[in-house]
This record gives sequence, C-alpha cells and structure tokens, in this order.
Amino acid sequence: MSSSTEVRPDALPHWETPPADLPEAIRSVKRAIRARIGASGRSVEEVFAVVARTVADRVAEIQADKDRGETVWPVIDYSDIENGTVSTAQLDKLRRRGCLVVRGHFDRDQALAWDAGIVDYVEGNDFFEHYRGPGDDFFGSVGSRPEIYPIYWSTGQMEARQSPRMARVQAFLNAQWKSESEGVTWFDRERDSLYPDRIRRRPPGADSSGLGPHSDPGTLDLWMTRSYQQAFRHLFDGSVEEYDPWDASFRTTGPQYPGSTMCSAFRTFQGWTALSDMAHDQGVLFSVPIPEAMAYLMLRPLLDDVPDDDMCGVMTNQVFPASERWHSPLLAAISGIPDVSAGDSVWWHCDMLHGVAPVQDQQGWGNVMYIPAAPWCERNERYAADVRDAFLTGSSPGDFPEEHYEREWPDRFGADQLNPIGRRGLGLD
Ligand SMILES: [Fe+2]
Repeated sequence: MSSSTEVRPDALPHWETPPADLPEAIRSVKRAIRARIGASGRSVEEVFAVVARTVADRVAEIQADKDRGETVWPVIDYSDIENGTVSTAQLDKLRRRGCLVVRGHFDRDQALAWDAGIVDYVEGNDFFEHYRGPGDDFFGSVGSRPEIYPIYWSTGQMEARQSPRMARVQAFLNAQWKSESEGVTWFDRERDSLYPDRIRRRPPGADSSGLGPHSDPGTLDLWMTRSYQQAFRHLFDGSVEEYDPWDASFRTTGPQYPGSTMCSAFRTFQGWTALSDMAHDQGVLFSVPIPEAMAYLMLRPLLDDVPDDDMCGVMTNQVFPASERWHSPLLAAISGIPDVSAGDSVWWHCDMLHGVAPVQDQQGWGNVMYIPAAPWCERNERYAADVRDAFLTGSSPGDFPEEHYEREWPDRFGADQLNPIGRRGLGLD
C-alpha cells in the first residue's frame, strides 16, 4: 500500500453518536471525504465513474438473464450445502448476486407445523385481544390484526434458530465473507449469535402497498462513525478498485446510530424462512442483486448535483432509502424472488437494497420468520447480553419496540429447551 492510500481515519471528522447539527455534519464530512479522494490524485467524478461502470455491467447481465427467462436469484438445494457439493458456478453466482434461495432448508411439513404452532401460541395467549397496534407506528389502528407479529419466543422460532440445519446454512453464508484481514479475525464463521426477530403472517385476500427499496445496515453512521469510515476506506480514499463488499474489516466492532429501524448486530446476510408457499407475484421480496451497489450508494451523494447538506435523502432514525431521483440505474436491476415453498429460506447481503412488492387480493398466505446470519463478533456479543435478558424474561429484544407481549405467556420457549447451538448463540456457554 502506498502512503497516499494508507488508512488515516483521523483525517475524517467522525461522530460516534448522532451529531446535533446534522446538516453541518453532512457538509463537513462530505467536504473531508472529497478532499481525501482528491489527495489520491483522482477526482470524485472519476472515482464514481468506476463504480457506475461496474454497476452498469451488472445491470446489463441481470437484464440479459431476465430476457433469457432465467431466475436472477441463485437457488441452491440445502442438501448440496450439507454435503459440500455446491458447484463453483453456483458459488460464483451467489457472490455475484449477493442473494440466495435455499431450497428445502427445512422439511415443508416441519415449516407448516411451526406456522400452525405459532398460531396456537398467539391465539392461546389471547394475543389478538390484547394487541395494541404497531409499536413502532404512532398512528397504528388499535385493535387491528397485525401482519408483523412482535413475537420472538415461540417454539417454532427458537427451534429454527437453534437447528443444526440453520447453523449449517449460516456458516455457509458467513464463509462467503472475508472474516480475517488487517491481522484481525473479525467474526467467527461457525458460530451464530441468535438474533431474535419477528414473524410476518399475511393472510389470503390481503392488499398491501409493499415496501420501497431500502438498505438496512445503517444511516448517516455509514459515513460518520470511525469504524464505518474504516470499513469503507477504499471508497473514501480514491482506491475504489480495492473496495470489497465481502470484507468484514471494521464492520463488527463499531456502534450504530439508534433508530426505530436499527439492527445492533452485524449480519453477513439478512434472511427469512418461509412458513407458507408463496408465488413470485404475490407481493414478495425483491432485491437489487448487486453487492457493489453499496459503493454507488456511498459515493453518489458526493457528486455536485446533490445539495451540500443532503446525503441523497439519508437521515438518522429513518430507513436508508433508494430513489429514482438519485439511484435510478440501480433500481433498473430490481429482481424478485422466485416461487418459494414452506421450508425454503431466502437471504441477501446485508448492504443490498431490497423491498417488498405490492399486492392486491393476495393468493395464499405470506408467512415468514426473520432469521439472519449474524456471526459471533464483538458487536454481536455485546448485543447478546440484551438478547439473553429478553429471552429469559420473555421481553421484546432491545432493537425492537418495547411491547413485551410474551412475558406472562406460560408456553414460550424455555431455557431448559435450549440445545448447545442455542446456548452458544445466546452466549450462555
Ligand atoms: Fe429491510
């Protein structure tokens, strides 16, 4: 590494908690990043053009796949992951697209039984009678039946989280990342940190306006904390060709700005496991299957046509949006998942843009439980302490609204039901 591209985090102003004056902080960090890129001898425009070209190539490949009627999302059978028989071509496609459907991750009957068990669990505890509306939406209509259930500790969810089949897929996905670099082991590929999340059950006949494309790993902290500035060092110092979306360096230690959509954990992939069959045209998940698009998202705000105090619409305490105005080349690559069956699982690189398509009069159920791959690391170990408390008391975990429906529910999953994977995931062993 030449001295001009050396990592010099102190050269950028940084804020480990959200700055009080956001517009001023945005102005000053943009100024500093522009200056640092300039010091490499390249202009911001030159560096961004490299990223835009890569993205354009990927968009064209994806379009060509669509034109040929091929599935854009890679699909791998669970049995190939278990037997170590995933082909090189499949691995290449996974790395290129940054997303995956695992077929037959769980037995279909097992997944349907978990779904039925969750219904028994919530109905048996009068959840719908006590439901107070969405905890993260001030104007939620009280008494309505939710689609997202703020339920964390059912038997089905916990059995899936601590299942050896889940651990195997998580380890396979974690291994797509570079976990060792800069002389540091950033995470343990073989150990997940059991990140509890909610479930979604969307009934037949539902109308849903969906969810626009967005990114999950952070907001302004992606430009403003010291650890993220180090993680994105190659984007911010003019050595953009060296940026590797699969490098975990500096991503597993730092803080995250608080917010209603925050995830305290480092996730290699986000994911969910299907608890019902879902057709590809019934309001399902889509992604922009280009891991390198993160470079585009991070550098686009530095161009001259974006106001000085604007990061292309990214704010704190709101989800990171993608818009036609700033990101239209990326949105051209939007690709929905193929049909999935109960027991299949769906995964996408934690930085990648994703959303949910709208649907009218949905055919069949749309039921999933969110279970990511969140390998054991400093950041996840810290959050695991909170998760342990929530588990033992039946509370909502710290990343979620304080709803705590399950505290008095007698049949929630108990500590005596944990297997070694569950105990390790909670940091109990
Ligand atoms: Fe999301």
